Amino acid sequence: METSIMATDLKLHKKYGKFIKTFEGSTPVMLVYDAEWIKEAFVKNFSLFTNRRRLLFGGALDQGLFSMEGDHWRHSRKMLSSEFSSGKLKKMMPEIQKCVQHFVQILEDSDEQPVDIRTKCYALTLDLISHTAFGLDSDAQTNEDSQFTKNALRLISFGEAEQPLKEKIRSTVAIFVVLLAPDWLVKLFAKLSITVFDAGAINYFEQLCQSVIDSRKSDNPGADFVQTLVNNMKETSKGDPDTLVDTLGYNWTKKGLTKTEIIGNALLFLFAGFQTTADTMLFVFYELAQYPEIQEKLYGEIIEICDSDDVTPEQVNQLKLLDYCINETMRLYPQAFRFDRSASEDVTIRDIFVPKGTAVTAIPWTIQRDPEIWEDPEEFDPYRFTPDRFTEKQVTAFMPFGIGNRLCIGSRLALMEMKLSIITALKKFEFKTCPDTPERPLEFAAVPAVTPSKKIMLSFVKREAATTD
Ligand code: HEM
Repeated sequence: METSIMATDLKLHKKYGKFIKTFEGSTPVMLVYDAEWIKEAFVKNFSLFTNRRRLLFGGALDQGLFSMEGDHWRHSRKMLSSEFSSGKLKKMMPEIQKCVQHFVQILEDSDEQPVDIRTKCYALTLDLISHTAFGLDSDAQTNEDSQFTKNALRLISFGEAEQPLKEKIRSTVAIFVVLLAPDWLVKLFAKLSITVFDAGAINYFEQLCQSVIDSRKSDNPGADFVQTLVNNMKETSKGDPDTLVDTLGYNWTKKGLTKTEIIGNALLFLFAGFQTTADTMLFVFYELAQYPEIQEKLYGEIIEICDSDDVTPEQVNQLKLLDYCINETMRLYPQAFRFDRSASEDVTIRDIFVPKGTAVTAIPWTIQRDPEIWEDPEEFDPYRFTPDRFTEKQVTAFMPFGIGNRLCIGSRLALMEMKLSIITALKKFEFKTCPDTPERPLEFAAVPAVTPSKKIMLSFVKREAATTD
């Protein structure tokens, strides 16, 4: 069997220690398995580690926050942050609840027979994104063959088993180009629309955003991300002192966001928020089914605090064990199992010399399983996050949403979506393993994502209290 990237990282750490200097094509890369060092570099020396390694994805995605650099990133991050405020999240609650109710209904329809819970979490998350980001009903949970679903799956399937050979070759070539080729070749391939992601899928979402934007400009305001971004839409113009050119060669304006940036960020929210949220949710279901005594304690906490059908953000914030369960899941299965920053100058940190241009890569998967920091690291033990047990060392070594000023902008939304889904499902069902549920520890496919090698089958058995509803 091919080895996953995460398993390879664990082996490399064991064999070579906390720092590994290597090359990927012409790019010097340093793999770092030391959390204190990462904090010193990415947080204390942020001005030297502001940007990520330059990866050009192709299409409008290159004008999304993830790829932006320097002042252009600073400006856009400020503009986009307001989209994730607690006020905005509160406004989104009814839409989120509606999607979650649909999810629970689908689980109920399974009639306690085993379901492939990953596909259900994917459909739920797509529904959530289409409502919260685009203000659209994607129909993803009712119709697994909808255009929205098909294209979203094409967007995230890097050479996965079910892809046709032609697609596998295309994505493998593109990943090779993006990771290994020199900058000029990457730019040339981007111009020729040879991208890591399926160009047809990118095109579909670009068109979709375009039509949403056009409908909003007329007379149809919505409460979603695209709407607020459209409210701040400004185009660049030659000779305007507020129009600047960024380090990637794109025009931007200090006065707002351009239409391409709005499309790029809407696409990015889909790309960055889809699989990450769905798979984290999936692993929470899986672990709670594996540990029924923890599941029952969590159920107790939930029915005590969330005593009516409408769950409020205030109630959600009181659910401490739920926090610990999600944290423990993200410790074991960090969706971004690697993330990086590019050194803008030569620098020496804690006696380690980092040449300018090095892609310094943090490896949360390994750090969050380091036995020197985490006792019995493979155990699912949510109580390690209680204030009396969660040590300073562990605080530094826990980075599922990244670290420093560039950490995940969507973390609060993702957490709210996952929490509401788990609360609503747990109030109604017991999550149970079945003969086809893969055993712990899980094995993962050799693809650049945290994809279990086997389907996660679980059954959802109605609780007695819920059957009397
Ligand atoms: C459980 C779900 C999620 C996980 C585990 C996750 C994880 C991450 C990580 C590790 C990073 C890199 C941080 C760094 O480099 O320090 C990141 C960046 C980012 N994430 Fe998320 N993410 C999740 C959900 C979301 C959602 C729902 C959205 C948007 C709706 C989102 C949007 C972004 C964006 C735009 C960035 C780039 C931020 C920047 O460069 O300033 N993520 N995420």
